[in-house]
Amino acid sequence: KAAVLSSPSKKFKVTLPASLSAGQSYVPPGRSVALFRDDDGVYAVSLVCTHLGCTVRASALSQVKTEDVGGKKTRLTHEFLCPCHGSKYTGEGTNVSGPAPKPLTWFRLSVAPDDGQLVVDLADEVDHAFRFTL
Ligand code: FES
Repeated sequence: KAAVLSSPSKKFKVTLPASLSAGQSYVPPGRSVALFRDDDGVYAVSLVCTHLGCTVRASALSQVKTEDVGGKKTRLTHEFLCPCHGSKYTGEGTNVSGPAPKPLTWFRLSVAPDDGQLVVDLADEVDHAFRFTL
């Protein structure tokens, strides 16, 4: 019989470092997603460049910027740079220069019912106003 298999690896638990401060990124080992904390909560941004799929790097800004992201004033302390063809994204993932055709993807965060750990779901895209409050 035909079965629709969901890949279990698309959903995984992460433990945020207690020391993670606003603007610092945490990349779970072996994953192409960065988690950030800001005043409103936690969010997860894909590190897969929307051009040809290279892994972008979060790079700290020398000065914190405040931008309107999905209607919320958001402090941005980093930007994303792609090493392959130079695409650049703002700290919330909007493509601003280079060949990248669209913003980086954001993924839903939730809490595991069994142990209360933070869960990232790579199969569930959310908009750039999403914040998860721990
Ligand atoms: Fe990132 Fe081409 S893959 S700019």
